[in-house]
Amino acid sequence: MKWVYIEDISNYIGQDVEIRGWVYNKRSSGKVRFLLIRDGTGIIQGTIFSPDKDFPLFRVFDELTQESSVIVRGNVREDKRAPGGYELEIKDIEVIQIARNYPITPKEHSVAFLMEHRHLWLRSQKQHAILQVRAETIRAIRDFFDGRGFRLMDTPILTPSACEGTTTLFETTYFDQKAYLSQSGQLYNEATAAAFGKVYCFGPTFRAEKSKTRRHLIEFWMVEPEVAFATLQDIIELGEDLIMFILERVLERRKKDLEILERDTAPLERIAKPFPRITYDEAVKLLKEKGSQIVYGDDFGAPEETLLSEIFDRPVCVTHFPAKIKAFYMQPDPERPDLALGVDFLASEGYGEIIGGGQRIHDLDLLEQRIKEFNLPREAYEWYIDLRRYGTFPHSGFGLGLERTVAWLCKLPHIRETIPFPRLLYKIYP
Ligand code: 4AD
Ligand code: MG
Repeated sequence: MKWVYIEDISNYIGQDVEIRGWVYNKRSSGKVRFLLIRDGTGIIQGTIFSPDKDFPLFRVFDELTQESSVIVRGNVREDKRAPGGYELEIKDIEVIQIARNYPITPKEHSVAFLMEHRHLWLRSQKQHAILQVRAETIRAIRDFFDGRGFRLMDTPILTPSACEGTTTLFETTYFDQKAYLSQSGQLYNEATAAAFGKVYCFGPTFRAEKSKTRRHLIEFWMVEPEVAFATLQDIIELGEDLIMFILERVLERRKKDLEILERDTAPLERIAKPFPRITYDEAVKLLKEKGSQIVYGDDFGAPEETLLSEIFDRPVCVTHFPAKIKAFYMQPDPERPDLALGVDFLASEGYGEIIGGGQRIHDLDLLEQRIKEFNLPREAYEWYIDLRRYGTFPHSGFGLGLERTVAWLCKLPHIRETIPFPRLLYKIYP
């Protein structure tokens, strides 16, 4: 008998097939037994019917518990009343294992308990839906950049230097040297951009953030395009296009998952280009009008980002931050050198920053000066300075945080469910 996946079941109406999976739930009603089976691609209802109460398959059915692993064989029927629209008329159940006392029952559990059992929690319908949205988002991102002629460049995870400030570095040893887990692939992609014109990297990044918030992970995935000769404006348009591409793709292909998550998609469907662009100065004014205590010159924290992103019905781009609160590599505004040509995209519905980026310094002297001002060890940046020695070029790029984007798309209260095994402050189990 042919082994098929539940997501393909509509191709097998009237045929006998085999489904390999786990028991999701079961119930009986008179002469019928209902078995919900999941196989990772979906859930299907299987039925066993017999007027005989000693029917042998009933005995196998009675033994089955939640998450028992089984191979079920039967005939596929279209049935409008069945969840998913199809049903399996079960002819045979082969039990691989009866699962005893599966810890996650249909009752309510605390988040702490569920996080301790993350390896099992992944099997539940909502977690499954979130991770489907994640996988679709990853695919959309790759299709977007590959389709626009960007070259994928994998940047190193073990690095000798910091990209985003030294306070959140994860230190490790590299034989007889100190090394750090990558905070961003940006610096390396400034080199590959000179070799390939437009590039992107997409991989895990690490921040030893001592902040315990709903939007910080210690290990998260970031996609980072870098474009030679692009300005801040060019890169803002690229970010806009990327977000629109992801949105449209996820709304088109993961509608069912968003439904399972009870995500009201209307606010996402209304989003269109162009996104509003405001400067840091304007943002501070808006914040003060909304009653925020923000002091001019300070960086935005989560409360400010939330306030700002609630003002607009689509993502908003904040530009021209004070250079002092931004990374060493940011190009100053020629009109006002105290401001950096950087941009943060704040997602709508209060989600805050999902993209950070901007134009990079391409002047040799200025970069050397900044490295000094930021007290960075020059030896580790010699290769990076070289890029300003040999055919320097204006260039821009950004990083989009995958998990923050997924949290926004799914409208989740916390980022921890957007990655299969989240690394959180002091928490590395499971
Ligand atoms: O703003 P960030 O720190 O920018 C950079 O790392 C640049 N080097 C990127 C570049 O220009 N190539 O981080 C970029 C994005 C943020 O907007 C956010 O979405 C995400 O990465 N991010 C985090 N996501 C989850 N947990 C954290 N601790 C994050 N820190 C940043
Ligand atoms: Mg940022």
